[in-house]
Amino acid sequence: DLATDLGGVKLTSCVYNASGPRTGASAAMAKIASSAAGGVLAKSATVSPQKGNDLPRVWHEEDGAASMNSEGLPNSGIDYYTDAKTISDTMGENPLGKPYMVSISGKTLADNLEMLKKISSAIEGGAKISAVELNLACPNIPGKPTIGYDFEQMEDVMSQVSSLPCFSGPKPQFMFGLKMPPYFDRPHFEMAAAILNKYKSIVSYSASINTIGNALAIDIHAEMPAIRAKGGFAGLSGKAVKYTALANVKQMRELLDPSIAVVGVGGVSTGEDAFELILCGAQAVQVGTCHWNEGPKCFDRICGELKDVMRRKGYDSPDDFRGKLKEW
Ligand code: DHB
Repeated sequence: DLATDLGGVKLTSCVYNASGPRTGASAAMAKIASSAAGGVLAKSATVSPQKGNDLPRVWHEEDGAASMNSEGLPNSGIDYYTDAKTISDTMGENPLGKPYMVSISGKTLADNLEMLKKISSAIEGGAKISAVELNLACPNIPGKPTIGYDFEQMEDVMSQVSSLPCFSGPKPQFMFGLKMPPYFDRPHFEMAAAILNKYKSIVSYSASINTIGNALAIDIHAEMPAIRAKGGFAGLSGKAVKYTALANVKQMRELLDPSIAVVGVGGVSTGEDAFELILCGAQAVQVGTCHWNEGPKCFDRICGELKDVMRRKGYDSPDDFRGKLKEW
């Protein structure tokens, strides 16, 4: 059985979708809900709807080895993702009681605070939103460093977020996680983890990794960048980033307080990939680029493959091998 508890929220499978691909509208999200995915995580929202960057804004290596995007956060705005109709159109009858989760990626701290307040009111009004993922890794805010790479900004964000009324009770009003950028240097892991640990009373999980920022793909025929916006600089994803994701999950698991779960994301396209991330300590695994390329049936395949690996190895549950990567 792949069912997993994430910060008190029951995922019907430890494998579910990453925010981003095929998560912008209820019609696409409904297909995730009716797949083997353990929950549904919506596209990162901004306060107002936005169209995103000019096309082409995504690029895929032909063999699926890597993808790139600089979409500029096209999304329908926070009011859409918290709306009761969006949620019921997405989740349908929801016989298994899968969780619906919202992602936010404000252009400013004020925008993130405003969206958290809107989510809080929506929940008070009866909206079934099980969790909120705050994106600290959005590479598309011009003129500002990515929050997760600017530890002063990150501390300020966490401090102001934690002071909101939705977090002031004995227990947060909703399960709350953070989406982290990839780190490449031990002191950076330590500084990021130290900030999250300071706010452990409100942080249920930390998801690593978002895309590897500012990569560049070239169209050799045109002798131009493959992507139009930002001089072609874009976020790298897909199989190429799995090794960075594994390392980030392992490092964060070692450094974070045990009360904070780690969610693994980056380059997962098989059950074996999911197994590896769980072995490094992931409580659950998100799938982004593979879902983009293959569509929602990837969740059925990846869950089936993960069960096969577990059966071969004699494991009944992800709990049997989570974080148990052996040492030399
Ligand atoms: C976009 C890309 C990201 O990696 C992210 O976290 C949010 C938005 C985008 O380009 O739309």
